[in-house]
Parts: sequence; structure tokens; C-alpha cells
Amino acid sequence: MAAAAAAASSAAAAPPVPIASAVAPAPGAPRSSKKPKKPEKEDIGGIPTNSLVLAKWRDGSWRRATLLHKQHIRDGAGEPTGRFNYYVHYDDFNRRMDTWVNSDNVKEDPDAALREAEAERKEKEDVRVEKRQREDGGTEEIATFLEEQHGEAEGMDEAALREHEEVTKVKNVNFVEIGRHRMETWYFSPLPKELWQDEIIDTLYFHEHSLRFFKHKAEMLRHAAKWPLKHPPGDEVYRHQGMAVFELDGAKEKEYCQNLSYLAKFFLDHKTLQWDVDPFLFYVFTEYDEFGYHFVGYYSKEKYCDAGYNLACILALPCFQRRGFGRFIIQFSYELSRKERRVGSPEKPLSDLGQLSYRAYWTWVLFGVLRRFQGPELSIMDLVRITSIKPEDVMATLQYHGLIKYYNGTYVLCTDPALVEAKFQKYNNKKGPVVDPSKLHWAPYPITVKRDKWTIRAKLQARTEEEM
Ligand code: ACO
Repeated sequence: MAAAAAAASSAAAAPPVPIASAVAPAPGAPRSSKKPKKPEKEDIGGIPTNSLVLAKWRDGSWRRATLLHKQHIRDGAGEPTGRFNYYVHYDDFNRRMDTWVNSDNVKEDPDAALREAEAERKEKEDVRVEKRQREDGGTEEIATFLEEQHGEAEGMDEAALREHEEVTKVKNVNFVEIGRHRMETWYFSPLPKELWQDEIIDTLYFHEHSLRFFKHKAEMLRHAAKWPLKHPPGDEVYRHQGMAVFELDGAKEKEYCQNLSYLAKFFLDHKTLQWDVDPFLFYVFTEYDEFGYHFVGYYSKEKYCDAGYNLACILALPCFQRRGFGRFIIQFSYELSRKERRVGSPEKPLSDLGQLSYRAYWTWVLFGVLRRFQGPELSIMDLVRITSIKPEDVMATLQYHGLIKYYNGTYVLCTDPALVEAKFQKYNNKKGPVVDPSKLHWAPYPITVKRDKWTIRAKLQARTEEEM
């Protein structure tokens, strides 16, 4: 127990494992559309790694996949049986669907050569050759890689993307258990080396109030018996209808916040692990009952963000997803921005699920304002002022729903009230908790910045100056 506890708590002191710094491939995209790597030379047998294969999907269908890793299936005495478990990435699915399948469910793809040629052709297509004027007056050709997709991979160069894929290609933990829930993990999390050394851990046990993690359940239960709290550390800033929210300062609750980052990394592919938690505030969302406060999700936020982000990372544990908790967390982040009298936006790039959830939230809020609106004129900045949603996100959402039209040299908001009502009801008729701002006991974190360009006032002023 002592060793495991030390390992868990050493999370705070452990040196960072070198993982790629930012993002994964765009949502739903193949791992990489570039030419697949050649099979490795030294092999333990079976189908070579990096081969293009067909693998059975959950519904029994055979799908195109890439074989990323393999292990012997061993008998009771630990001897190899000559059969293998293969770790595959399905070409058509997000990395979170990567999984182990046994030899019966993987076969070589007769069309592998065709797929390879196709990947090669795509790779060439992705390179655009441009001519650039040299200083001596001549021209030279430069190759520019076209962006694969505008999404999660944004901001990450090809080399970094490959490195990220290579280092994190196989999940190191199959399941996590926290409180009453057991969940399959989605991605690799760079756990401290004392706890994990290249082997695959079947289940990692998190204590739900301290978030310390253990390889053995008995160790976690011994830790739980001694742990004094039945809730996360930090200040409770919201409590209403079974939901309680705690605010934690990363500088004060370092260990908890770092453990939280390890947990979140199992479900967030494209975010850097936050080793340095000091500049962040963490908001932990719990459901409470007579047994204590049960972890549902969290979001982190920089104490001061020059880019105007009001949320850095958001997570609702998979066992709570699609029940409205994501919307609750997002709504909460905007309620804080409203109290601060600032505009806010989530840190980019968004994951596929982040994008879907934010679009749903923005639509719900903006259409809610539009349906109530009675006056003669409503501008984008009015919507910003009412909702604290950044002007770019307001515009993008209205454009997505086809509400912005170009008319007589200017952009106007143009819609049918019945359509607004129908859209609003679609997003409003949703299960799940809703934030009641009157139950929020919170004061903004004091910042020392003199001219804060993200206040609503500054934004309105900037827009007026632009128009003059
Ligand atoms: N498929 C389709 N639509 C989805 C899905 C999905 N898997 N998940 C969410 N949505 C859309 C739907 O419109 C949904 O509304 P509906 O259920 O009424 O159809 C809406 O988003 C909101 O759903 P919620 O139930 O409120 O959100 P949820 O509790 O599932 O949490 C969250 C959303 C936090 C993004 C969760 O999926 C998650 O933690 N994912 C893993 C981590 C992640 O990707 N975080 C975002 C990274 S980007 C960033 O941090 C800035």
C-alpha cells in the first residue's frame, strides 16, 4: 500500500514523460492519411505491425484497419501459444475506438497494396508546390503541406503529430474505476513511471475524493478508509438540486489537480497534460447523496488568459455522458464569465465531442434569446452582452443555422420566428441539470491586468471604434 500510495502521490513530483505536446488527428479521420510505415523488421511473429488489415468491428463487420501493436497470447504457464492479440486502429473511426482484438478477428487485407498506393497518391496531393520570389530576383519552388483537416490537428506540425501518435499509440490502461463506476479508457495517459513501466494495466483504481490512483483495489480501499474527506478539496461554490461544484486553485491543491489531469487524459487525446497546474483554476462537478460527493466531471480555466478563453479542458466521465452534464458544465463556465462581465470562449482546438457539445449549447442559448426578443433591432454585440459568448462564436453559430444573410451590402440576421421556436425547443427539451445563477456563491479571481481586453465593455468599445 505504501508503495502504491507513494506512486500515486508521486504524481506531483514525477518528471514529465515526453509525450507530444498537443493534438491528435482530426475527428473521425484515419490516424494519418499519409503513407503507412513499412512493417518492422524485427518481429515476434504473426501479422507484422503497421500492416494494413481487416479487423472485425463490434457489429461483426470486417473493417479496414491498421495493426499498431501485438502481444503473444500465453498459456497458463506463461508460454506463448502461437496466437496473438492485436491492437488495431480502424480507418474510419476516431482513435478512441482503437482496441485489442485476437487473431481470429484480424486478417490480412487482400487490397493492402491498393490502399498503400491510394495513401501515397493522397500524400502527393497534399503537397502544394508554390513559387516564391528570391531576393536575387529569381524564383524557387517551395512545397506547402495542405492542412489535412481543420480540426483537432490544427496547430500541430506533421512531425509532432506523428510523434504524438507513436508515443501514445497503445492505451496503457484498459479500464478505470472511480466510485461506483468502471469505464473503458479511450486514450493513453502518461502515468508516472513508478506506477507504469510499459506493461498494460487492466484496471486503475481512483479514489473518488482524493483522485489518488492505485493498481490494486485493496490498496485503494485502504487509502479510502484513512482519507478524511467525502468531497473534493477546495471551496464549494455552487449547490443545488443534487449538484455541487468545487473551485480548486491549482497552486494550492496541486496533487489533486495533477491526479485529475492524469484521469482526464484517458478521455482527452489532444490536450497536453497539465504538469504545471499553478496557473489554473479547476471546477469539479459532483452529484451528492448521503454517502458523499461523487465525481461527475470538471473543467479547468486559466486564472488569466490573454486569448480570452474561459475554459481550457472539459470532461464529463463517459458514464455520465449524453445526460446533459456537458451542457451544465459549459453553462456554468459562461455563468462565471457573466459574473466577471467578460466574454469567453473554449480553448481551441476543440475535440469532436467538444465541438458538438459547444454548438448545442450556443444554439440553445442564442435561440433562447432570439425567441424572447421583441424590440426593433438586435445586433451581434447585443447577443454577446446578454450571453457572454464571444462574437466569433455567436457569428459562427448563427451562420451554421443559416441565419446570417448578405443584404444591400450588409450582413443581417434574418429568420422565421417559427423556425427559431422549433430549434430552441429541440435543444431545450433535453434531460439534465440546468445552472441556477442565484445559487452561485462565487467571486471572480482577482487579476492584476490593467487593461483587460476581454471585458464586455472593452469588446463593445472595440466594435464601436471599428465601425467609426
Ligand atoms: N455523439 C453525438 N452528439 C453528441 C455526443 C456524441 N457522442 N456527445 C455530445 N453530443 C452533442 C449532442 O448534441 C448532445 O445533446 P443530446 O444528447 O441532447 O443530443 C450535446 O452535444 C450535449 O450533450 P451533453 O450530454 O450535455 O454532453 P456530455 O455530458 O456528453 O459531455 C463532453 C460533453 C464534456 C464534451 C464529453 O463528451 C466529454 O467529456 N468528452 C471527452 C473529452 C472531450 O472531448 N472534451 C472536449 C475537449 S475540447 C476542450 O476541452 C476545450
